[in-house]
Amino acid sequence: MSDNLLQALREAVGEAGLITDAERMQSYLSDWRGAYRGQAAAVLRPASTEEVAAVVRLCAQAGVALVPQGGNTGLCGGSIPDDSGAQIVLSLTRMKRIRAVDVGNETITVEAGVILQQLQEAAAEVGRLFPLSLGAEGSCTVGGNLATNAGGTAVLRYGNMRDLALGLEVVLPDGRIWDGLRGLRKDNTGYDLKHLFIGSEGTLGIITAAVLKLFPAVRSLTTAWVALPSPQAAVELIGQMRGLCGDRLTGFELMSRQSVEFVLRHVAGVSDPFADTHPWYVLIELSDAQPNAPLNELLEEGLGAAFEQGVALDAVVAASDAQVRALWALREGISEAQNHEGPSLKHDISVPVSRIPDFIARTDQTLQQMFPGVRIVAYGHVGDGNLHYNVSKPVGADDAVFKAQAEAIMRVIYDQTLHYAGSISAEHGLGQSKRLAAQHYKAPLELELMARVKQALDPAGLMNPGKLL
Ligand code: FAD
Ligand code: MLT
Ligand code: ZN
Repeated sequence: MSDNLLQALREAVGEAGLITDAERMQSYLSDWRGAYRGQAAAVLRPASTEEVAAVVRLCAQAGVALVPQGGNTGLCGGSIPDDSGAQIVLSLTRMKRIRAVDVGNETITVEAGVILQQLQEAAAEVGRLFPLSLGAEGSCTVGGNLATNAGGTAVLRYGNMRDLALGLEVVLPDGRIWDGLRGLRKDNTGYDLKHLFIGSEGTLGIITAAVLKLFPAVRSLTTAWVALPSPQAAVELIGQMRGLCGDRLTGFELMSRQSVEFVLRHVAGVSDPFADTHPWYVLIELSDAQPNAPLNELLEEGLGAAFEQGVALDAVVAASDAQVRALWALREGISEAQNHEGPSLKHDISVPVSRIPDFIARTDQTLQQMFPGVRIVAYGHVGDGNLHYNVSKPVGADDAVFKAQAEAIMRVIYDQTLHYAGSISAEHGLGQSKRLAAQHYKAPLELELMARVKQALDPAGLMNPGKLL
Protein backbone atom coordinates (compact mmCIF):
# COMPACT_ATOMS: atom_id res chain seq x y z
CA MET A 1 0.00 0.00 0.00
CA SER A 2 1.40 3.42 -0.95
CA ASP A 3 2.16 6.04 1.71
CA ASN A 4 -0.32 8.36 0.01
CA LEU A 5 -3.15 5.85 0.31
CA LEU A 6 -2.25 5.09 3.92
CA GLN A 7 -2.30 8.80 4.76
CA ALA A 8 -5.65 9.31 3.02
CA LEU A 9 -7.15 6.32 4.85
CA ARG A 10 -5.82 7.66 8.17
CA GLU A 11 -7.57 10.94 7.46
CA ALA A 12 -10.77 9.12 6.52
CA VAL A 13 -11.10 6.98 9.66
CA GLY A 14 -8.88 8.78 12.18
CA GLU A 15 -6.12 7.22 14.26
CA ALA A 16 -8.68 5.14 16.23
CA GLY A 17 -9.89 3.48 13.05
CA LEU A 18 -6.55 2.37 11.59
CA ILE A 19 -4.43 -0.62 12.65
CA THR A 20 -1.15 -1.39 10.92
CA ASP A 21 0.73 -2.85 13.84
CA ALA A 22 1.37 -6.55 13.08
CA GLU A 23 0.54 -7.76 16.57
CA ARG A 24 -2.70 -5.79 16.87
CA MET A 25 -3.81 -7.05 13.46
CA GLN A 26 -3.47 -10.74 14.43
CA SER A 27 -6.99 -11.35 15.73
CA TYR A 28 -8.42 -10.04 12.44
CA LEU A 29 -6.27 -12.38 10.37
CA SER A 30 -7.45 -15.78 11.52
CA ASP A 31 -10.90 -17.23 12.05
CA TRP A 32 -12.70 -18.59 15.12
CA ARG A 33 -11.59 -22.20 14.48
CA GLY A 34 -8.04 -21.27 13.52
CA ALA A 35 -8.70 -23.01 10.20
CA TYR A 36 -7.79 -19.97 8.03
CA ARG A 37 -4.99 -17.43 8.34
CA GLY A 38 -4.16 -14.50 6.05
CA GLN A 39 -2.13 -11.29 5.88
CA ALA A 40 -3.30 -7.71 5.43
CA ALA A 41 -1.82 -4.32 4.56
CA ALA A 42 -4.00 -2.79 7.30
CA VAL A 43 -7.17 -3.22 9.31
CA LEU A 44 -9.62 -0.33 9.05
CA ARG A 45 -12.36 0.26 11.59
CA PRO A 46 -14.61 3.06 10.36
CA ALA A 47 -17.19 4.42 12.80
CA SER A 48 -19.87 5.68 10.39
CA THR A 49 -21.38 4.99 6.98
CA GLU A 50 -19.66 8.10 5.60
CA GLU A 51 -16.30 6.78 6.81
CA VAL A 52 -16.99 3.39 5.18
CA ALA A 53 -17.88 5.18 1.93
CA ALA A 54 -14.67 7.25 2.06
CA VAL A 55 -12.57 4.10 2.60
CA VAL A 56 -14.28 2.22 -0.25
CA ARG A 57 -13.83 5.19 -2.61
CA LEU A 58 -10.13 5.51 -1.78
CA CYS A 59 -9.53 1.77 -2.19
CA ALA A 60 -11.48 1.71 -5.48
CA GLN A 61 -9.29 4.53 -6.84
CA ALA A 62 -6.12 2.75 -5.74
CA GLY A 63 -7.30 -0.72 -6.89
CA VAL A 64 -6.92 -2.22 -3.39
CA ALA A 65 -9.18 -5.12 -2.39
CA LEU A 66 -11.32 -5.02 0.77
CA VAL A 67 -12.33 -7.91 3.02
CA PRO A 68 -15.37 -6.97 5.14
CA GLN A 69 -15.40 -8.44 8.62
CA GLY A 70 -17.86 -8.48 11.52
CA GLY A 71 -17.45 -10.71 14.56
CA ASN A 72 -15.18 -13.09 12.61
CA THR A 73 -17.20 -16.13 13.67
CA GLY A 74 -17.92 -17.31 10.12
CA LEU A 75 -17.16 -20.97 9.48
CA CYS A 76 -15.96 -20.94 5.87
CA GLY A 77 -13.08 -18.43 5.85
CA GLY A 78 -15.12 -15.62 4.26
CA SER A 79 -13.84 -12.86 6.55
CA ILE A 80 -10.14 -13.72 6.31
CA PRO A 81 -7.87 -12.02 3.73
CA ASP A 82 -5.59 -13.99 1.40
CA ASP A 83 -1.89 -14.34 2.21
CA SER A 84 -0.63 -11.70 -0.24
CA GLY A 85 -0.61 -8.96 2.41
CA ALA A 86 -2.09 -6.59 -0.19
CA GLN A 87 -5.74 -6.69 0.96
CA ILE A 88 -7.32 -4.50 3.63
CA VAL A 89 -9.63 -5.88 6.31
CA LEU A 90 -12.63 -3.59 6.79
CA SER A 91 -14.00 -4.28 10.26
CA LEU A 92 -17.51 -2.95 10.97
CA THR A 93 -17.29 -3.51 14.72
CA ARG A 94 -17.26 0.20 15.61
CA MET A 95 -20.58 0.74 13.85
CA LYS A 96 -22.74 -0.43 16.72
CA ARG A 97 -25.54 2.09 17.11
CA ILE A 98 -29.18 1.11 17.45
CA ARG A 99 -30.48 3.88 15.21
CA ALA A 100 -34.21 3.56 15.81
CA VAL A 101 -36.91 1.38 17.31
CA ASP A 102 -40.39 1.73 15.80
CA VAL A 103 -42.64 -0.34 18.03
CA GLY A 104 -45.75 0.58 16.03
CA ASN A 105 -44.13 -0.75 12.86
CA GLU A 106 -42.55 -3.69 14.75
CA THR A 107 -39.09 -2.80 13.41
CA ILE A 108 -35.63 -1.92 14.68
CA THR A 109 -32.92 -0.14 12.69
CA VAL A 110 -29.37 -1.09 13.62
CA GLU A 111 -25.85 -0.62 12.32
CA ALA A 112 -23.87 -3.54 10.91
CA GLY A 113 -21.49 -3.88 13.87
CA VAL A 114 -24.21 -4.44 16.47
CA ILE A 115 -23.64 -7.80 18.14
CA LEU A 116 -26.58 -10.18 17.72
CA GLN A 117 -27.03 -10.60 21.47
CA GLN A 118 -27.20 -6.81 21.93
CA LEU A 119 -29.85 -6.67 19.24
CA GLN A 120 -31.85 -9.38 21.06
CA GLU A 121 -31.51 -7.37 24.30
CA ALA A 122 -32.60 -4.13 22.62
CA ALA A 123 -35.70 -5.89 21.32
CA ALA A 124 -36.43 -7.33 24.79
CA GLU A 125 -36.23 -3.83 26.30
CA VAL A 126 -39.29 -2.82 24.30
CA GLY A 127 -41.11 -6.08 25.04
CA ARG A 128 -40.31 -7.65 21.67
CA LEU A 129 -38.33 -10.58 20.30
CA PHE A 130 -35.62 -10.55 17.68
CA PRO A 131 -35.65 -14.27 16.92
CA LEU A 132 -32.35 -15.04 15.18
CA SER A 133 -30.46 -17.26 17.61
CA LEU A 134 -27.19 -19.14 17.19
CA GLY A 135 -24.23 -20.38 19.18
CA ALA A 136 -22.04 -17.41 18.24
CA GLU A 137 -24.64 -14.78 19.16
CA GLY A 138 -22.38 -13.26 21.83
CA SER A 139 -19.86 -12.17 19.20
CA CYS A 140 -21.32 -12.33 15.67
CA THR A 141 -22.66 -9.10 14.17
CA VAL A 142 -25.77 -8.09 12.26
CA GLY A 143 -23.61 -7.32 9.20
CA GLY A 144 -22.14 -10.83 9.26
CA ASN A 145 -25.57 -12.37 9.89
CA LEU A 146 -26.94 -10.57 6.82
CA ALA A 147 -23.90 -11.19 4.62
CA THR A 148 -24.10 -14.94 5.33
CA ASN A 149 -27.92 -15.09 5.55
CA ALA A 150 -27.46 -16.78 8.92
CA GLY A 151 -29.92 -19.40 10.11
CA GLY A 152 -29.61 -20.92 13.58
CA THR A 153 -32.05 -22.62 15.89
CA ALA A 154 -35.29 -20.66 15.33
CA VAL A 155 -35.55 -20.77 11.53
CA LEU A 156 -38.29 -23.36 11.79
CA ARG A 157 -40.67 -20.69 13.11
CA TYR A 158 -39.19 -17.32 12.08
CA GLY A 159 -37.09 -17.97 8.97
CA ASN A 160 -33.46 -17.08 8.40
CA MET A 161 -31.89 -13.62 8.28
CA ARG A 162 -33.26 -12.99 4.80
CA ASP A 163 -36.77 -13.35 6.18
CA LEU A 164 -36.05 -10.96 9.04
CA ALA A 165 -34.70 -8.02 7.02
CA LEU A 166 -36.93 -5.31 5.54
CA GLY A 167 -34.33 -2.77 4.40
CA LEU A 168 -30.60 -2.26 4.03
CA GLU A 169 -28.06 0.52 3.78
CA VAL A 170 -25.09 -0.54 1.64
CA VAL A 171 -21.88 1.12 0.52
CA LEU A 172 -21.46 0.06 -3.09
CA PRO A 173 -18.08 -0.93 -4.58
CA ASP A 174 -17.65 2.55 -6.11
CA GLY A 175 -18.20 4.23 -2.74
CA ARG A 176 -21.77 5.44 -3.29
CA ILE A 177 -24.23 4.87 -0.45
CA TRP A 178 -27.45 3.02 -1.28
CA ASP A 179 -30.10 4.07 1.24
CA GLY A 180 -32.52 1.17 1.14
CA LEU A 181 -33.47 1.49 4.83
CA ARG A 182 -37.19 1.09 4.25
CA GLY A 183 -39.32 -0.53 6.93
CA LEU A 184 -41.93 -1.81 4.49
CA ARG A 185 -43.49 -5.24 4.46
CA LYS A 186 -44.83 -4.63 0.99
CA ASP A 187 -42.90 -2.95 -1.83
CA ASN A 188 -43.37 -4.25 -5.35
CA THR A 189 -41.46 -1.57 -7.23
CA GLY A 190 -39.21 -3.90 -9.15
CA TYR A 191 -36.27 -6.11 -8.19
CA ASP A 192 -35.86 -6.51 -4.45
CA LEU A 193 -32.26 -5.30 -4.34
CA LYS A 194 -31.65 -6.02 -0.67
CA HIS A 195 -31.80 -9.73 -1.40
CA LEU A 196 -28.76 -9.42 -3.67
CA PHE A 197 -26.66 -8.26 -0.74
CA ILE A 198 -28.09 -10.67 1.83
CA GLY A 199 -26.04 -13.83 1.54
CA SER A 200 -23.47 -12.21 -0.78
CA GLU A 201 -20.66 -12.70 1.79
CA GLY A 202 -19.22 -9.22 1.24
CA THR A 203 -18.65 -9.73 -2.48
CA LEU A 204 -21.09 -7.05 -3.73
CA GLY A 205 -20.79 -4.22 -1.20
CA ILE A 206 -20.52 -3.31 2.46
CA ILE A 207 -23.71 -3.57 4.51
CA THR A 208 -23.68 -0.68 7.00
CA ALA A 209 -27.18 -0.80 8.52
CA ALA A 210 -30.49 -2.67 8.35
CA VAL A 211 -34.17 -2.42 9.23
CA LEU A 212 -35.17 -5.68 10.90
CA LYS A 213 -38.49 -7.21 11.96
CA LEU A 214 -39.56 -7.52 15.59
CA PHE A 215 -41.94 -10.16 16.98
CA PRO A 216 -44.01 -10.57 20.15
CA ALA A 217 -41.88 -11.50 23.17
CA VAL A 218 -41.96 -15.10 24.36
CA ARG A 219 -44.03 -15.42 27.56
CA SER A 220 -44.39 -19.22 27.76
CA LEU A 221 -41.61 -21.67 27.07
CA THR A 222 -41.14 -25.43 27.34
CA THR A 223 -37.93 -27.24 26.51
CA ALA A 224 -37.41 -31.00 26.32
CA TRP A 225 -34.54 -33.37 25.60
CA VAL A 226 -35.74 -36.56 23.93
CA ALA A 227 -33.88 -39.78 23.13
CA LEU A 228 -34.68 -41.43 19.79
CA PRO A 229 -33.77 -44.69 18.07
CA SER A 230 -33.03 -43.15 14.65
CA PRO A 231 -33.11 -40.06 12.40
CA GLN A 232 -36.31 -41.51 10.89
CA ALA A 233 -37.90 -41.21 14.33
CA ALA A 234 -36.89 -37.52 14.39
CA VAL A 235 -38.62 -36.91 11.07
CA GLU A 236 -41.76 -38.67 12.32
CA LEU A 237 -41.70 -36.80 15.63
CA ILE A 238 -41.30 -33.38 14.06
CA GLY A 239 -44.23 -34.09 11.75
CA GLN A 240 -46.41 -35.07 14.71
CA MET A 241 -45.31 -32.12 16.87
CA ARG A 242 -45.90 -29.66 14.05
CA GLY A 243 -49.38 -30.99 13.48
CA LEU A 244 -50.11 -30.69 17.18
CA CYS A 245 -48.39 -27.40 18.02
CA GLY A 246 -48.30 -25.44 14.75
CA ASP A 247 -46.20 -22.28 15.14
CA ARG A 248 -45.64 -23.00 18.80
CA LEU A 249 -42.94 -25.46 17.74
CA THR A 250 -40.00 -23.01 17.61
CA GLY A 251 -37.00 -25.33 17.96
CA PHE A 252 -36.27 -28.90 16.90
CA GLU A 253 -32.57 -29.79 16.91
CA LEU A 254 -31.17 -33.25 16.15
CA MET A 255 -27.92 -34.61 17.65
CA SER A 256 -26.13 -37.92 17.26
CA ARG A 257 -24.68 -39.63 20.31
CA GLN A 258 -21.18 -38.87 18.98
CA SER A 259 -21.95 -35.13 18.99
CA VAL A 260 -23.24 -35.24 22.56
CA GLU A 261 -20.27 -37.31 23.74
CA PHE A 262 -17.87 -34.64 22.48
CA VAL A 263 -19.77 -31.99 24.46
CA LEU A 264 -19.81 -34.12 27.62
CA ARG A 265 -16.06 -34.62 27.25
CA HIS A 266 -15.02 -31.02 26.59
CA VAL A 267 -17.59 -28.51 27.78
CA ALA A 268 -17.56 -27.64 31.46
CA GLY A 269 -20.74 -27.85 33.52
CA VAL A 270 -22.85 -30.08 31.24
CA SER A 271 -24.18 -33.55 32.04
CA ASP A 272 -26.09 -36.30 30.28
CA PRO A 273 -29.80 -35.96 31.11
CA PHE A 274 -30.19 -39.77 30.91
CA ALA A 275 -28.50 -42.65 32.73
CA ASP A 276 -28.53 -44.79 29.54
CA THR A 277 -26.93 -43.84 26.24
CA HIS A 278 -29.09 -43.51 23.14
CA PRO A 279 -28.14 -43.24 19.45
CA TRP A 280 -29.95 -39.96 18.73
CA TYR A 281 -31.47 -37.02 20.58
CA VAL A 282 -33.67 -34.06 19.77
CA LEU A 283 -34.03 -30.83 21.67
CA ILE A 284 -37.61 -29.61 21.36
CA GLU A 285 -38.68 -26.08 22.19
CA LEU A 286 -42.28 -24.87 22.30
CA SER A 287 -42.98 -21.19 22.90
CA ASP A 288 -45.83 -18.73 22.81
CA ALA A 289 -46.46 -15.01 23.25
CA GLN A 290 -49.37 -15.78 25.57
CA PRO A 291 -48.51 -16.21 29.28
CA ASN A 292 -49.47 -19.62 30.69
CA ALA A 293 -50.00 -21.16 27.27
CA PRO A 294 -50.66 -24.93 27.60
CA LEU A 295 -47.26 -25.95 26.22
CA ASN A 296 -46.54 -28.72 28.74
CA GLU A 297 -49.88 -30.32 27.92
CA LEU A 298 -49.09 -30.22 24.19
CA LEU A 299 -45.65 -31.67 24.79
CA GLU A 300 -47.05 -34.45 26.97
CA GLU A 301 -49.63 -35.32 24.34
CA GLY A 302 -47.02 -35.38 21.57
CA LEU A 303 -44.46 -37.36 23.53
CA GLY A 304 -47.09 -39.74 24.89
CA ALA A 305 -48.03 -40.75 21.36
CA ALA A 306 -44.34 -40.94 20.39
CA PHE A 307 -43.58 -43.37 23.26
CA GLU A 308 -46.51 -45.57 22.29
CA GLN A 309 -45.29 -45.77 18.70
CA GLY A 310 -41.67 -46.40 19.71
CA VAL A 311 -40.62 -43.12 18.11
CA ALA A 312 -39.29 -41.76 21.44
CA LEU A 313 -37.25 -43.79 23.94
CA ASP A 314 -36.88 -41.39 26.87
CA ALA A 315 -37.46 -37.70 27.62
CA VAL A 316 -36.78 -34.99 30.19
CA VAL A 317 -38.60 -31.69 30.36
CA ALA A 318 -36.71 -28.71 31.79
CA ALA A 319 -38.19 -27.66 35.12
CA SER A 320 -36.31 -24.36 35.52
CA ASP A 321 -34.54 -21.67 33.49
CA ALA A 322 -31.23 -23.20 34.58
CA GLN A 323 -32.29 -26.56 33.12
CA VAL A 324 -33.36 -24.90 29.88
CA ARG A 325 -29.89 -23.34 29.62
CA ALA A 326 -28.24 -26.68 30.49
CA LEU A 327 -30.08 -28.49 27.69
CA TRP A 328 -29.21 -25.78 25.17
CA ALA A 329 -25.57 -25.90 26.35
CA LEU A 330 -25.48 -29.56 25.32
CA ARG A 331 -26.61 -28.54 21.84
CA GLU A 332 -24.73 -25.26 21.42
CA GLY A 333 -21.48 -26.74 22.77
CA ILE A 334 -20.98 -29.10 19.82
CA SER A 335 -18.97 -26.69 17.62
CA GLU A 336 -16.58 -25.81 20.42
CA ALA A 337 -16.27 -29.40 21.65
CA GLN A 338 -15.40 -30.67 18.20
CA ASN A 339 -12.48 -28.22 18.03
CA HIS A 340 -10.86 -30.16 20.90
CA GLU A 341 -10.90 -33.43 18.95
CA GLY A 342 -8.31 -32.38 16.36
CA PRO A 343 -8.94 -31.34 12.78
CA SER A 344 -12.55 -31.53 11.68
CA LEU A 345 -14.20 -31.13 8.33
CA LYS A 346 -17.38 -29.07 8.29
CA HIS A 347 -20.15 -29.87 5.83
CA ASP A 348 -23.18 -27.67 6.27
CA ILE A 349 -25.65 -29.36 3.94
CA SER A 350 -29.39 -29.38 3.44
CA VAL A 351 -31.70 -31.93 1.85
CA PRO A 352 -35.49 -32.22 1.92
CA VAL A 353 -36.45 -33.06 5.53
CA SER A 354 -37.95 -36.39 4.45
CA ARG A 355 -34.63 -37.48 2.91
CA ILE A 356 -32.48 -36.86 6.00
CA PRO A 357 -32.63 -40.47 7.27
CA ASP A 358 -31.58 -41.91 3.88
CA PHE A 359 -28.87 -39.28 3.50
CA ILE A 360 -27.38 -40.15 6.89
CA ALA A 361 -27.59 -43.92 6.36
CA ARG A 362 -25.97 -43.89 2.92
CA THR A 363 -23.32 -41.32 3.69
CA ASP A 364 -22.34 -42.95 7.01
CA GLN A 365 -22.01 -46.31 5.30
CA THR A 366 -19.89 -45.03 2.41
CA LEU A 367 -17.58 -43.01 4.65
CA GLN A 368 -17.03 -45.84 7.12
CA GLN A 369 -16.19 -48.18 4.25
CA MET A 370 -13.77 -45.78 2.59
CA PHE A 371 -12.25 -44.14 5.68
CA PRO A 372 -12.60 -46.60 8.57
CA GLY A 373 -12.64 -44.99 12.00
CA VAL A 374 -13.62 -41.44 10.99
CA ARG A 375 -15.91 -39.95 13.60
CA ILE A 376 -19.09 -38.56 12.10
CA VAL A 377 -20.53 -35.68 14.10
CA ALA A 378 -23.99 -35.25 12.60
CA TYR A 379 -26.40 -32.76 14.13
CA GLY A 380 -28.38 -29.70 13.28
CA HIS A 381 -31.55 -27.94 12.41
CA VAL A 382 -33.47 -30.98 11.24
CA GLY A 383 -36.74 -29.12 10.75
CA ASP A 384 -34.97 -27.02 8.12
CA GLY A 385 -33.46 -30.10 6.48
CA ASN A 386 -30.07 -28.68 7.56
CA LEU A 387 -27.48 -31.11 8.85
CA HIS A 388 -24.05 -30.22 10.13
CA TYR A 389 -22.47 -33.39 8.85
CA ASN A 390 -19.03 -32.82 10.34
CA VAL A 391 -16.22 -35.34 10.32
CA SER A 392 -13.43 -35.66 12.92
CA LYS A 393 -10.30 -37.67 12.37
CA PRO A 394 -10.10 -41.26 13.68
CA VAL A 395 -8.72 -41.55 17.22
CA GLY A 396 -4.92 -41.58 17.08
CA ALA A 397 -4.77 -40.82 13.34
CA ASP A 398 -2.15 -38.49 11.97
CA ASP A 399 -3.48 -34.95 11.33
CA ALA A 400 -1.70 -34.69 7.98
CA VAL A 401 -3.05 -38.03 6.73
CA PHE A 402 -6.60 -37.02 7.69
CA LYS A 403 -6.28 -33.61 6.05
CA ALA A 404 -5.07 -35.28 2.87
CA GLN A 405 -8.36 -37.22 2.81
CA ALA A 406 -10.48 -34.07 3.21
CA GLU A 407 -11.21 -33.62 -0.48
CA ALA A 408 -12.32 -37.23 -0.95
CA ILE A 409 -14.49 -37.16 2.18
CA MET A 410 -16.08 -33.93 0.99
CA ARG A 411 -16.84 -35.49 -2.39
CA VAL A 412 -18.65 -38.43 -0.82
CA ILE A 413 -20.79 -36.09 1.26
CA TYR A 414 -21.55 -33.59 -1.49
CA ASP A 415 -22.29 -36.35 -4.03
CA GLN A 416 -24.88 -37.73 -1.64
CA THR A 417 -26.21 -34.20 -1.08
CA LEU A 418 -26.63 -33.80 -4.82
CA HIS A 419 -28.23 -37.24 -5.06
CA TYR A 420 -30.94 -36.07 -2.63
CA ALA A 421 -31.40 -32.73 -4.45
CA GLY A 422 -29.79 -30.80 -1.61
CA SER A 423 -27.47 -27.83 -1.13
CA ILE A 424 -23.78 -27.96 -0.16
CA SER A 425 -24.22 -24.92 2.07
CA ALA A 426 -27.41 -24.51 4.05
CA GLU A 427 -26.32 -21.65 6.29
CA HIS A 428 -22.59 -20.91 6.60
CA GLY A 429 -22.03 -19.82 2.99
CA LEU A 430 -19.28 -20.66 0.50
CA GLY A 431 -16.46 -18.35 1.63
CA GLN A 432 -13.08 -19.87 0.82
CA SER A 433 -13.89 -23.42 1.83
CA LYS A 434 -16.72 -24.25 -0.59
CA ARG A 435 -16.02 -21.79 -3.38
CA LEU A 436 -14.48 -24.37 -5.71
CA ALA A 437 -16.92 -27.10 -4.74
CA ALA A 438 -19.78 -24.77 -5.72
CA GLN A 439 -18.33 -24.56 -9.23
CA HIS A 440 -18.90 -28.30 -9.48
CA TYR A 441 -22.16 -28.71 -7.55
CA LYS A 442 -24.16 -25.66 -8.65
CA ALA A 443 -25.90 -25.48 -12.01
CA PRO A 444 -23.78 -23.75 -14.72
CA LEU A 445 -26.60 -21.31 -15.49
CA GLU A 446 -26.82 -20.25 -11.82
CA LEU A 447 -23.06 -19.73 -11.74
CA GLU A 448 -23.23 -17.66 -14.92
CA LEU A 449 -25.99 -15.44 -13.53
CA MET A 450 -24.06 -14.95 -10.28
CA ALA A 451 -20.92 -13.97 -12.21
CA ARG A 452 -22.96 -11.44 -14.22
CA VAL A 453 -24.36 -9.86 -11.06
CA LYS A 454 -20.84 -9.61 -9.65
CA GLN A 455 -19.57 -8.05 -12.87
CA ALA A 456 -22.40 -5.50 -12.87
CA LEU A 457 -21.87 -4.36 -9.30
CA ASP A 458 -18.15 -4.88 -8.75
CA PRO A 459 -16.47 -4.86 -12.18
CA ALA A 460 -13.01 -4.30 -10.67
CA GLY A 461 -13.43 -7.30 -8.37
CA LEU A 462 -12.29 -5.48 -5.22
CA MET A 463 -15.04 -6.70 -2.87
CA ASN A 464 -13.80 -9.76 -0.98
CA PRO A 465 -12.03 -11.41 -3.94
CA GLY A 466 -11.42 -15.13 -3.73
CA LYS A 467 -14.64 -15.75 -1.80
CA LEU A 468 -17.94 -17.28 -2.94
CA LEU A 469 -17.32 -17.04 -6.72
P1 FAD B 1 -17.87 -12.67 9.91
O1 FAD B 1 -17.40 -14.02 10.25
O2 FAD B 1 -17.03 -11.54 10.33
O3 FAD B 1 -18.09 -12.57 8.33
C1 FAD B 1 -18.84 -13.55 7.66
C2 FAD B 1 -18.96 -13.16 6.17
O4 FAD B 1 -19.73 -11.97 6.05
C3 FAD B 1 -17.63 -12.84 5.50
O5 FAD B 1 -17.69 -13.23 4.16
C4 FAD B 1 -17.52 -11.33 5.58
O6 FAD B 1 -16.72 -10.78 4.57
C5 FAD B 1 -18.97 -10.91 5.44
N1 FAD B 1 -19.35 -9.69 6.16
C6 FAD B 1 -19.27 -9.47 7.51
N2 FAD B 1 -19.77 -8.26 7.79
C7 FAD B 1 -20.16 -7.69 6.62
C8 FAD B 1 -20.75 -6.44 6.26
N3 FAD B 1 -21.07 -5.54 7.18
N4 FAD B 1 -21.01 -6.20 4.96
C9 FAD B 1 -20.71 -7.12 4.00
N5 FAD B 1 -20.14 -8.32 4.29
C10 FAD B 1 -19.87 -8.59 5.58
N6 FAD B 1 -24.25 -19.70 11.37
C11 FAD B 1 -25.53 -20.00 11.13
O7 FAD B 1 -26.06 -19.57 10.09
N7 FAD B 1 -26.26 -20.77 12.00
C12 FAD B 1 -25.75 -21.25 13.14
O8 FAD B 1 -26.43 -21.95 13.88
C13 FAD B 1 -24.41 -20.92 13.45
N8 FAD B 1 -23.86 -21.34 14.61
C14 FAD B 1 -22.58 -20.99 14.89
C15 FAD B 1 -22.04 -21.42 16.10
C16 FAD B 1 -20.73 -21.10 16.42
C17 FAD B 1 -20.16 -21.53 17.73
C18 FAD B 1 -19.93 -20.34 15.50
C19 FAD B 1 -18.51 -19.96 15.81
C20 FAD B 1 -20.48 -19.92 14.31
C21 FAD B 1 -21.79 -20.24 13.98
N9 FAD B 1 -22.37 -19.84 12.78
C22 FAD B 1 -23.67 -20.13 12.51
C23 FAD B 1 -21.56 -19.13 11.77
C24 FAD B 1 -21.47 -17.60 12.03
O9 FAD B 1 -21.54 -17.26 13.33
C25 FAD B 1 -22.56 -16.86 11.38
O10 FAD B 1 -22.47 -17.08 10.01
C26 FAD B 1 -22.53 -15.35 11.61
O11 FAD B 1 -23.65 -14.88 10.96
C27 FAD B 1 -21.30 -14.59 11.11
O12 FAD B 1 -21.31 -13.27 11.65
P2 FAD B 1 -19.95 -12.47 11.88
O13 FAD B 1 -20.30 -11.08 12.28
O14 FAD B 1 -19.06 -13.19 12.79
O15 FAD B 1 -19.37 -12.45 10.41
C1 MLT C 1 -24.41 -24.88 14.67
O1 MLT C 1 -25.58 -24.94 14.30
O2 MLT C 1 -24.07 -25.22 15.81
C2 MLT C 1 -23.35 -24.39 13.71
O3 MLT C 1 -23.98 -23.77 12.63
C3 MLT C 1 -22.63 -25.61 13.23
C4 MLT C 1 -21.17 -25.75 13.18
O4 MLT C 1 -20.40 -25.21 13.98
O5 MLT C 1 -20.74 -26.53 12.29
ZN1 ZN D 1 -26.14 -24.37 12.35
